[in-house]
Amino acid sequence: MNYYCYLTSIYLFLFLTGAVAAPAAVAPGRFLKPLKSPEPEPEPKPRPQEFFELASPLPSDHLTPSCSLTVVNHSFANTMDSPPFSAPYSPPSDCPTPWSRVVLDFRAASSGEQYDRIAAIWLDEAEIFRTSTAEPTESGIFWRVRKDISRYSSLLNKTEINVTMMLENVVNDVYTGVYDILVSFLFYKEDVVPSDVRVPLVALPNQKLGTAELGLFKTPSDLIIPICSDGERGFWFKVESESDVHIKKVKFPRNTLQVVLELYVSFHGDDEFWYSNPPYSYIRMNNLTTGRGNGAYREVFVTIDGNFVGSEVVFPVVFTGGVNPLFWGPVVAIGDFNLPSYDLNLSPFLGWLLDGKSHEIRIGIDDAISFWLVDANLHVWLDHGSSRVEAQSIVYNSPALTIQRNEDFTYLDGIFRVKAKRKSEFAGWVKSTAGNFTTIVSQQFKLTNLVRYYFNGTYKIVQQVFKAKRDSRVREDLGELVGRTIVRRQYPLTVITATVPLQSEGSLGSKEEDMYMMITNVSHAMNERRVNGLSSSILYNRQESEGWMKVQGHSVISGNASTWQRYTYRDELGCYSRTVLASEGKLAMDNSTFYCAAST
Ligand SMILES: *[C@@H]1O[C@H](CO)[C@@H](O)[C@H](O)[C@H]1NC(C)=O
Ligand SMILES: *[C@@H]1O[C@H](CO)[C@@H](O)[C@H](O)[C@H]1NC(C)=O
Ligand SMILES: *[C@@H]1O[C@H](CO)[C@@H](O)[C@H](O)[C@H]1NC(C)=O
Ligand SMILES: *[C@@H]1O[C@H](CO)[C@@H](O)[C@H](O)[C@H]1NC(C)=O
Ligand SMILES: *[C@@H]1O[C@H](CO)[C@@H](O)[C@H](O)[C@H]1NC(C)=O
Ligand SMILES: *[C@@H]1O[C@H](CO)[C@@H](O)[C@H](O)[C@H]1NC(C)=O
Ligand SMILES: *[C@@H]1O[C@H](CO)[C@@H](O)[C@H](O)[C@H]1NC(C)=O
Ligand SMILES: *[C@@H]1O[C@H](CO)[C@@H](O)[C@H](O)[C@H]1NC(C)=O
Ligand SMILES: *[C@@H]1O[C@H](CO)[C@@H](O)[C@H](O)[C@H]1NC(C)=O
Repeated sequence: MNYYCYLTSIYLFLFLTGAVAAPAAVAPGRFLKPLKSPEPEPEPKPRPQEFFELASPLPSDHLTPSCSLTVVNHSFANTMDSPPFSAPYSPPSDCPTPWSRVVLDFRAASSGEQYDRIAAIWLDEAEIFRTSTAEPTESGIFWRVRKDISRYSSLLNKTEINVTMMLENVVNDVYTGVYDILVSFLFYKEDVVPSDVRVPLVALPNQKLGTAELGLFKTPSDLIIPICSDGERGFWFKVESESDVHIKKVKFPRNTLQVVLELYVSFHGDDEFWYSNPPYSYIRMNNLTTGRGNGAYREVFVTIDGNFVGSEVVFPVVFTGGVNPLFWGPVVAIGDFNLPSYDLNLSPFLGWLLDGKSHEIRIGIDDAISFWLVDANLHVWLDHGSSRVEAQSIVYNSPALTIQRNEDFTYLDGIFRVKAKRKSEFAGWVKSTAGNFTTIVSQQFKLTNLVRYYFNGTYKIVQQVFKAKRDSRVREDLGELVGRTIVRRQYPLTVITATVPLQSEGSLGSKEEDMYMMITNVSHAMNERRVNGLSSSILYNRQESEGWMKVQGHSVISGNASTWQRYTYRDELGCYSRTVLASEGKLAMDNSTFYCAAST
C-alpha cells in the first residue's frame, strides 16, 4: 500500500462527504501542526526548538563512556517504499568486552512541513529501538533520546554485522521536512555505583525469596534470535489484518536454559487510534467512508507451532500528530521517542522446543486492520557447562479470551463497550548443569473500553482502563523459590473530542475545505510496578492535555493547548520526579527532584 495515497484519501474524505458530524465520529485524527507559530516571533528568526520525552536519568549518565561509535549519520528524505539505511558494524577495537553498560544515543533534527513518522533501528536484524518523530516547524526542531541497550550485548559484540535504520518519510512539494539522524553507541567499562545524588530509600517492601536469589534475566542473554521480515522495507512485519500471517522458523540451541521473547509494536493508518474505533455497524448505518472501524479491541499474540504462548494489549502511544498536535510540544506524548517493548517469558515451553527441529513462531494481532508494524527478539540464555539440557513442559493452562461487546446507538449517537480479560498459566522444568529449575509463568489482564458519541456525533469520549500482571517464578528441585519477577502495568486513557463546524474563510485558499473548531482533551498514563528478585521499582507517568484548534482539512490553522505531566520513578537506589507544564508550545513549568515525597 502506498502511504502517501493513504494520507491523501483521508484528507479528501473529510471534505468530500460534507457530513458535518464526520470529523468527530472518526476522531481522534492525525493532523499537521501549523508551519508558523500562531504568534509570529519578532526578528531575528526564532531558534530551533528542542523537544523531549520525560524519562529517568540513566544509571550510567554520571560516567564517562570508554568509547563511542557513530553508527548512523543519515538524512531521511523520501524513504517510503525504499530499502532501509544500512551500514556495517563491528564493536570498537579500542574497547573490548566486558562492558558495564552500552547506551544508544539518538539525535534528530528537522525543519519544514511534515507529519510525524515511525522509525526503528536493528542490529543484525534484531530490533533495538522503536521511535517516532516530532512534527517539524519552520524554525526547526531537534531532540535527543538515550536508551540503555546493554541487554543486546551479545549482538553488540558481533563483528561484521549491519546496523539498519528505517524512518518512513515522504518528501514532496507539500511535505518538505527531512529528518537528520545521528546515532551513536556509548560503551562504558566503569561499573555503575549508586550515585550520591539519589537518596536511598529503606521503605520499599522487599520480596522474601529464601537464601539463594537467582536474578532472572539480570545478565544479558547469550544469544538473540530475531523474529523479523526479510528487511526490504525494514525488518518489521507489516500486519494489515487479523489473518495476515507472519511466521519465522527457529531452531533452539539444545542447551537453552531460559528464553524471553521481546515484542516491538506500533500501530498506524486505520488502526493508529484503534482504542477509539467504532464497530463497522456504526460506520455502515451512518454511511461514513472512514476505514477506522472494527471496534476498539486489539491484542498482539504469539504462537509457536500454532499454540498460544502469550499476548499483549499494548500501551496506546499517541503520536505527535495525534488528537491535537499542539499538545505534544516541546514535551511529546508518553512513549513517542522510546516506544516500550514487551517481554514474554517462554521458558515453560522449552520442553517441546529443544528437540533440535525448527519451530514456527507467529506474531499476529486480533481484530487488526491496516496496519501494524511488529517484530520480536528471542533472548536465549545457554548452559555453558553442557551442549544439551533436559526439559519438560508440565502445565499449559490457557483458556480463551473472555470478551463482551455491547453496542447501543441510533444514527451518530450511542455507546460501544468492550470488556475483555485473559488469564493463563504455564510451567516447565529445565535440568542443566546448574540444577533442575521449574519456571512457572502466569499472566493476566483486564480491559474495559468505552466509546460514546453525543450531539449527533460531534462529541466523542473514549475511555479505556487496562490492568495487567505478569508473574514468573523459578523453583529449584526441592520446591524452594529461587527467583521471581512480577510486572504490573496500568494504562488509563481518556480522549475527548468536540467538533464545531466553522464557515470556511475564502481567503485561505481555492479549495472548498470544511473548517472545524475542535476542542480536545487527553488524559493518559503508564504506571508500572516491577519486582525482580530483591529489587523493585515503581513508575508513575501521567499526562493531562487540554486545548482547542481550528482545523482545515488535516491542517491546524490556529489553536491553543497545554500539557501537564508528572513522571515519578523510584527503586531501591532512590527516586526521581519531574513535573512539567507545556503551554502554547513552550515550557511554562519544569520542576525535577531526586527527593520525592513518600507518596505520589
Ligand atoms: C446529524 O448529522 C447528519 C449527518 O451530518 C445530518 O444529516 C443531520 O441533519 C444531523 N442532525 C441534526 C439533528 O442536526
Ligand atoms: C555526519 O555527517 C556530516 C555530513 O555528512 C558531517 O559533517 C558530520 O561531521 C558527521 N557527524 C559525525 C558525528 O560523524
Ligand atoms: C566478544 O567477542 C570477542 C571476540 O570475538 C571475544 O573474545 C569475547 O569473549 C566476547 N565477549 C563476550 C562477553 O562474549
Ligand atoms: C549488510 O548489508 C548489506 C547491504 O544491505 C548486505 O549486502 C550484506 O549482506 C549485509 N550483511 C550482513 C552480515 O547482514
Ligand atoms: C445511507 O445511504 C442509504 C443509501 O444511499 C440511504 O438510504 C440512507 O438513508 C443513508 N443513511 C444515512 C444515515 O444517511
Ligand atoms: C525436575 O524437577 C521436576 C519438579 O520438581 C521433577 O518433576 C522432574 O522429574 C525433575 N527432572 C529431573 C530430570 O530430575
Ligand atoms: C477538557 O477538560 C477541561 C478541564 O478538565 C474541562 O473544563 C473541559 O470541559 C474539557 N473539555 C471537553 C470538550 O470535555
Ligand atoms: C492560551 O491558554 C493559556 C492558558 O489558558 C492562556 O494563558 C493564554 O493567554 C492563551 N493564549 C492565547 C493566544 O489564547
Ligand atoms: C517548582 O520549583 C519552584 C522553584 O524551583 C518552586 O518555587 C515551585 O513551588 C515548584 N512548583 C511546584 C509545582 O512544585
